[in-house]
Amino acid sequence: MGTYTITVLPGDGIGPEVTEQAVRVLQRVASRYGHTFNTTQALVGVSAIEAEGDAILFGAVGGSPRYEGPDAKIQPERALFRLRKDLELFANLRPVRPLKALLNASTIKPEVLQGTDLVVVRELTGGIYFGKPSEIRETAHGYDAIDTLIYTEAEIERILRTAFELSLGRRKKVTSVDKANVLSSSRLWRRTADRVAADFPDVAFDHLLVDACAMHLIRRPASFDVIVTENMFGDILTDEASMLAGSMGMLPSASLGTRRTNHGVFGLYEPIHGSAPDIAGQDKANPIAAILTVAMMLRLSLGLKREADAVERAVEVVIDAGYRTEDLREAGKEVVGTREMGRLIVEAI
Ligand code: IPM
Ligand code: MG
Repeated sequence: MGTYTITVLPGDGIGPEVTEQAVRVLQRVASRYGHTFNTTQALVGVSAIEAEGDAILFGAVGGSPRYEGPDAKIQPERALFRLRKDLELFANLRPVRPLKALLNASTIKPEVLQGTDLVVVRELTGGIYFGKPSEIRETAHGYDAIDTLIYTEAEIERILRTAFELSLGRRKKVTSVDKANVLSSSRLWRRTADRVAADFPDVAFDHLLVDACAMHLIRRPASFDVIVTENMFGDILTDEASMLAGSMGMLPSASLGTRRTNHGVFGLYEPIHGSAPDIAGQDKANPIAAILTVAMMLRLSLGLKREADAVERAVEVVIDAGYRTEDLREAGKEVVGTREMGRLIVEAI
């Protein structure tokens, strides 16, 4: 029995409604296993950065047309980037393990999906998301725009080490993804990856160009174990990979750094999906990604493995029983709303 402190940042769009279900799941774990989870709700921003707790549970941000477009000066996404950067959460783990009962929900053939169990390790605090300059400029001949893709060797090395270490507890296979035939940053990435790989002789290691990886992800997804890649490639590949699991609404993620807590490693836990403004407030969003982030948090930041297993099992039980949210609609299955899906999972714990 323990006491844990978690900051909850529901954010925008569907963020609040999926996070509400995730927090219900957490409270259920508390009463079932006799733990105390002190949760503080906060707006995304300074209060989050100063958070002293064990973990942050994050919903989603962005999606308002008021803050979009080329001239927007304030972007809600910036808050997320500040959180990731200021807390030095450089390693974003995005596991993809399609549930058996959902093999038919994917647009990919079940026989191709069979056995898929991979994790993408996405570098989260460097690359083109953070490089300066990044701006639209007025020139004598009209506008131009620039973004900067920069990586230091140290940044590449630490994310590669994270991936290799993670693979030791898995199937011991690492695929490093880059665009070394075009980008200098990728050539440094590849060189550094080779150097790190030499320290892990028991791990099978290969390189893949990002375009080829995009193809192989849907061609032979079961052959991957750990995929490690830079920030933007990881962003794009994980939306693609989410379709292996049937929907973006199924994929959790953990963002980790070197900060430790009394129970494990400090982390920011967020679904990989965004704020989905088109369905916000309609009780349609799939809360499972948010609920599975709770499982990741229990396991990685709070050291509560048994409880994490219980949450994951509960999700599987409810899916096996034939309940689906709108995004997973399938003939013969019962479609339920966000709240009802949350309630069913709570009940199954
Ligand atoms: C993600 C999201 C974010 C990102 C957006 C909301 C800025 O797509 O976490 O994958 O690109 O990192
Ligand atoms: Mg994304």
